[in-house]
Amino acid sequence: MANTVAFMLNGRRVSSQAPADTPLLWVIRDEFALTGTKFGCGIAQCGACTVHINGQPTRACVLPVGAVVDAEVVTIEGLAASDAPHPLQQAWIEEQVPQCGYCQSGQIMSAAALLRENPNPSDEQINEAMNGNLCRCMAYVRIKRAIKKVAHATTRS
Ligand code: FES
Ligand code: FES
Repeated sequence: MANTVAFMLNGRRVSSQAPADTPLLWVIRDEFALTGTKFGCGIAQCGACTVHINGQPTRACVLPVGAVVDAEVVTIEGLAASDAPHPLQQAWIEEQVPQCGYCQSGQIMSAAALLRENPNPSDEQINEAMNGNLCRCMAYVRIKRAIKKVAHATTRS
């Protein structure tokens, strides 16, 4: 009989039949058809596969699905609470951050985790938090500008 791994995925209780050592990224994309989370390097080096596990930014390419039993998993599709975009997604649009776009869901997930912990990060804190998210299109300046835009808007209100 197949193992069942049950967890919360974007606020919904789900069960995966995948073997417990299957990378969570495979399960998210192939079993639950949430393809916003990307495969880049597969070795936890690029950040394209970043999701939140119990609020922490985590590389889904190296995390076995068996490690998320009863955890809260949030992907880019579940980041916004409703039909409205997350403030970071709105800022990404306004600042025209993406070029090819491939890295961007991972970038936004890392940025969202940072701002949840620290709504007004310094440049150094942004650099540190975003350090593991690579962008081959070199959109780093726009990414940082969008993060700061949301941080400033949040801390002003
Ligand atoms: S695909 Fe997971 S870190 Fe690169
Ligand atoms: S926008 Fe192309 S890899 Fe980042």
